[in-house]
Amino acid sequence: MVGTRALSVLLAGVAVCAAVAAIGQQRMSRTTPQTATAEGPADQGMALPQQMGNAAAGREVFRFETFGNEGFWTDAVRLPAGMAAARVTPLQALRLGLQVDADMVDAATKRQLAAELAADPSGRTSRLLNDPAVTMKLVMANAVVGMTPKNGKVGATCALCHTMVDGSVLMVPEGGRIGSRQDGLANHSLNLGKIFATAANTRALYTIAQTSLTANKGKTLGRAPRGLTENSTEAEFDAYFSNPRFYPIGMFDDTFDGNGNPMHNSPLFEQDLAAPYGSEGTITKQDDFANLVFTTLFDQTMLTTPGGREFVHKLAGAAGDEMIDDYVKILRETGVTGYPFVAARARGGLKPGELASPIGFRVDNTRLLNLNAYLFALPSPQGVGRGDRRVAAGRAAFVASGCTACHNTSSARPVPTTIHAMARIFPGDNPMLLAPRMPPLNPILNTVPSFFDDKHAVVNASIRGEKRGNAMPLLLDLARKPVFLHDDSVSSLERLLDGSRGSRAPHPFAIRYKARRAEVIAFLRSLDSTTQP
Ligand code: HEC
Ligand code: HEC
Repeated sequence: MVGTRALSVLLAGVAVCAAVAAIGQQRMSRTTPQTATAEGPADQGMALPQQMGNAAAGREVFRFETFGNEGFWTDAVRLPAGMAAARVTPLQALRLGLQVDADMVDAATKRQLAAELAADPSGRTSRLLNDPAVTMKLVMANAVVGMTPKNGKVGATCALCHTMVDGSVLMVPEGGRIGSRQDGLANHSLNLGKIFATAANTRALYTIAQTSLTANKGKTLGRAPRGLTENSTEAEFDAYFSNPRFYPIGMFDDTFDGNGNPMHNSPLFEQDLAAPYGSEGTITKQDDFANLVFTTLFDQTMLTTPGGREFVHKLAGAAGDEMIDDYVKILRETGVTGYPFVAARARGGLKPGELASPIGFRVDNTRLLNLNAYLFALPSPQGVGRGDRRVAAGRAAFVASGCTACHNTSSARPVPTTIHAMARIFPGDNPMLLAPRMPPLNPILNTVPSFFDDKHAVVNASIRGEKRGNAMPLLLDLARKPVFLHDDSVSSLERLLDGSRGSRAPHPFAIRYKARRAEVIAFLRSLDSTTQP
């Protein structure tokens, strides 16, 4: 029961333009020439054209590049100040799911930590891990994954959500780890909401919070019964973000649409095979996806630029205008100056609304293409139970059960680029109209009793003339996944496939016989980048 989840409108994050220009060096990944159809076997998928740069340089972009967003996280959101004020210890940071890169910790600290962990392997009595001053020392040593120090400030990088460490030094149950980096793994235990709430000025995250806007008659769309406004206090913002019922662990609300629609974190392996990207499939090129993250989500004050306003207005009309005006007011009231922060490192004056520059800015293209190369080549961890005798039978049952109408049998092949209409992937979808929009954008719609289509209310592939629906995921690293579907609505693979959720539930595709289902689950858990079709 989630109270009045009426609606609200808003904008969100992404661009336009149907044509995918294929310029320069492309990687038409791994064989397979044709486009899949809804009925035919999916193993005929064609990768969307992508450009690539240098993978080794791309690794540094993935891990450490901020393009100046340290100004946003340090001076606007004031995350380091909030962590210091809350006296967050390293152990508490680990319990929030943060990862510590042991290779960045200095030798003396490493020796002391090793001695303390030898005496108490849980770390609970470690002096270092209970000392709040050590937290900031670790951040400033570039040891806290995804929180990168730049010029005395702290910025955010892709690694924050898309990297784990191996736990070779310490593993906190259900939490973070200390060890060596394993890029591309989804951090399923990252408590981003609580981390955001810890910041001294969480109100600066207004555009990715769940709001109630006057233009929407105060109605709200999201997991909380009430939305925030420009007049909500810091304590009210903190209460929203730190409540795991509203902002579940392992999820991130990656749309600046005024709706509360966090989605489950994705693994980032073999990303040339994963396009179109995101659960709604708006963006077809990974460098465009990364550019959008760098120019909007990593510095939300960029939305107050003329191009930012234009894009938000196009998606969400008067509600979007109001949200940005509210945001400017919050920034003024909280003394945020000198923004936007990323603009200085990005090329501006580009056409807003294009996929390549949704708000009229693009960060350095060479670095974006280097990042492409790194994430295209990154292999998944080995599948689990590959020697299990049930895997082959499970593969056959996966085909026989109709799963290959949409999915490939191999995660070494591009996912079919089809966007599946919401009514097909979620037969119970019964949306109400929240607001009309100019074509090709579809009207803003929401099925009130379900979270499944919340992401698709404002942001969906209609931005590029496609359907409002779901893009295909690359099935990798499933054995580590604690929860299923992008809205976290299913608690296990067994439950995803046992039919108990009913024929109108999201992803209702079931395998009726228990033994057969167990075979398919064994097959799914075994999938990795080397699985042959
Ligand atoms: C704060 C957490 C967070 C950060 C930081 C982050 N992402 Fe993500 N990422 C997510 C979530 C959550 C999703 C799932 C979105 C969805 O389902 O629509 C995602 C999805 C993706 C996808 C789509 C994967 C697929 O298979 O469709 C790509 C590509 C991606 N991220 C790239 C990046 C890049 C590049 C960066 C850095 C510029 C980045 N992300 C930073 C949380 C994050
Ligand atoms: C109509 C197309 C379609 C069919 C048929 C289909 N799937 Fe899916 N599947 C999808 C889409 C789209 C998603 C992504 C859903 C989301 O974003 O939450 C998905 C997600 C999944 C996931 C990943 C869930 C996660 O959280 O990572 C698994 C596993 C899966 N499907 C297995 C199956 C099996 C097994 C079958 C056959 C019984 C099947 N699917 C049939 C379209 C389909």
